[in-house]
Amino acid sequence: MSTQDFVLFALRHPVLFVYQVIQWILSKVLSPTPPPRKAHLRRPKIAVIGAGLTGVPAASHCVGHGFDCVILEAGSRKNLGGIWSRVNNTSGLQIHSLMYRFHPSVTWKSGYPNRHQIVSQVEQLWRKYGLEEKTKFNTRVTKVYKDLHGRWILNDPSNGRFDGVIAAIGTCGDPKMPHIPGMEEFKGEICHSSDLDGRQAKGKKVIVIGGGASAVEALEFVASEDAEITNVLARSEKWIIPRNPFIDMLLAMNVFGSETNLSWLPEWMLRRFFYRDLADIAPPPNSKKGIFTETPMVNDEVLDLVRSGKAKWLRGDILGFEPDGVRFNRRAQGVPKGGPGREELIEGDMCIMATGFKRPSLAFLPDEVFQPPYEPPNWYLQVFPPEHMDICADNCTYVNAIGSVGNYHIGIYTRFLLMFLVDPLARPKEKWMKRWIDMTRWIKARSPTGAFDFFTYSELIYWFLFVIAIQPFRWKWAPFVLFGIGGALPLAVVEREDKLRKGNGVVH
Ligand SMILES: Cc1cc2nc3c(=O)[nH]c(=O)nc-3n(C[C@H](O)[C@H](O)[C@H](O)COP(=O)(O)OP(=O)(O)OC[C@H]3O[C@@H](n4cnc5c(N)ncnc54)[C@H](O)[C@@H]3O)c2cc1C
Ligand SMILES: NC(=O)c1ccc[n+]([C@@H]2O[C@H](COP(=O)([O-])OP(=O)(O)OC[C@H]3O[C@@H](n4cnc5c(N)ncnc54)[C@H](OP(=O)(O)O)[C@@H]3O)[C@@H](O)[C@H]2O)c1
Repeated sequence: MSTQDFVLFALRHPVLFVYQVIQWILSKVLSPTPPPRKAHLRRPKIAVIGAGLTGVPAASHCVGHGFDCVILEAGSRKNLGGIWSRVNNTSGLQIHSLMYRFHPSVTWKSGYPNRHQIVSQVEQLWRKYGLEEKTKFNTRVTKVYKDLHGRWILNDPSNGRFDGVIAAIGTCGDPKMPHIPGMEEFKGEICHSSDLDGRQAKGKKVIVIGGGASAVEALEFVASEDAEITNVLARSEKWIIPRNPFIDMLLAMNVFGSETNLSWLPEWMLRRFFYRDLADIAPPPNSKKGIFTETPMVNDEVLDLVRSGKAKWLRGDILGFEPDGVRFNRRAQGVPKGGPGREELIEGDMCIMATGFKRPSLAFLPDEVFQPPYEPPNWYLQVFPPEHMDICADNCTYVNAIGSVGNYHIGIYTRFLLMFLVDPLARPKEKWMKRWIDMTRWIKARSPTGAFDFFTYSELIYWFLFVIAIQPFRWKWAPFVLFGIGGALPLAVVEREDKLRKGNGVVH
């Protein structure tokens, strides 16, 4: 970009310009330096399972701090970027990209990037940190176990032996296509919401089954295609919140990570100022579906489309397909699934199944990590099973949250793992990991959800700060774990401690 173009851009788009400057500074200050090609990286060596936007940044943090790693990815090279490599070209971020900076060197050119921009950022990161040579594609991990020396083996020893494992397999696997009675008789086409590229919706009556974020995206797609009418059939109620980064961040600031005595306030404000005449679509007041119980959908367009008459958002149960549409039991607000309602035929000549994705299985991990009451997501910091602090299941034990999957915590979790591996004194013991889980459950005992089934981003930050502050041997690591800076100093201390331990005959 020439100086003239640069100045013109700053004048025409001042907000975007400031955003770019901030990102540039963050990248310069917080991105670890990529290792030189053929550099000898030290142990601990980490195995990263999955090459999505969790796995690639996690691996880049490992090598950026001088530790060796290998990425094992079930898909092929074209699946680099995980779920984003498999969805529609029209898919994009609903939350603001400010909350989707999955690595400090990510640079967004817009507030709401599309899937191509997201995949290309993952790809750039992958190349920048020399991860091409460290990634094994077409390698599905089916078994993770330890050798006699306590090193992890993934599938078989030919993949190497590792000191730590990062499982980054995500929550969106293959598309979920439930069979609904009568599907075969339906005259129109039926497709999954992740398979919309090239579909024609112009002038059609479209039915969308499901009421989650994919349904919202499908609705936006068919509206842009100028469909005649779209009926979204949702069997349960979910909150929709505005596509405004300040409102979204404000909601994420509830540090308790659950419903509180004040939750009525944001709910009332959303009904009054956002849903307005369409408050009937929102979960009912005084129900168990408070705003801090489930991941909300972030969107502005849905309500506008309903107001314009181009779409209807209907609550009820699918009874079955008929040649001309879907038989539906329409329920009033607050009537539970399967409850009484009014039966009607929703006409359609195209049906989009926005019924979600199958959750990839963590069954390859050792059996002991699934023992109740410490089964996922009830793990230390939600990601470390108490039996094995050297396993970090990042972003894949996630159930519901107000926050983001693709943000700074990916680096923080990776550095927690590195700290645990290199510093025996900072390492958590199984007993204390379990006590922390118990304590969090106790703090959230009044929450309508399980303690780890819902959290907010500020609660996550509180967890991080708490587990560092509670253990004095972790204090020296705080700048490294939280910001990725100053790792050399605590490492030198640990090396001296190691020498002392060896001198005293203490072996870890
Ligand atoms: C259309 C769409 C839009 C979304 N928008 C948002 C959003 O706005 N905000 C948000 O926070 N989240 C959003 N999400 C959720 C999204 O899943 C996450 O943001 C993020 O992409 C997850 O990245 P990941 O790397 O953790 O998982 P994935 O991207 O799912 O990657 C996991 C990888 O692991 C591989 N894998 C799985 N099992 C194995 C195995 N056993 N062995 C080896 N490899 C394995 C998979 O092949 C895959 O490549 C969206 C999801 C979709 C589908
Ligand atoms: N741009 C974005 O922000 C974006 C876009 C797409 C996806 N995502 C993310 O991707 C993940 C998956 O989202 P998703 O919307 O695909 O899936 P989802 O959240 O699991 O929603 C699936 C919807 O389909 C309904 N459903 C499932 N089976 C059904 C059946 N047999 N009959 C009728 N309805 C059925 C579900 O109802 P119940 O709730 O009652 O089960 C739910 O409303 C989420 O984490 C989401 O945030 C984000």
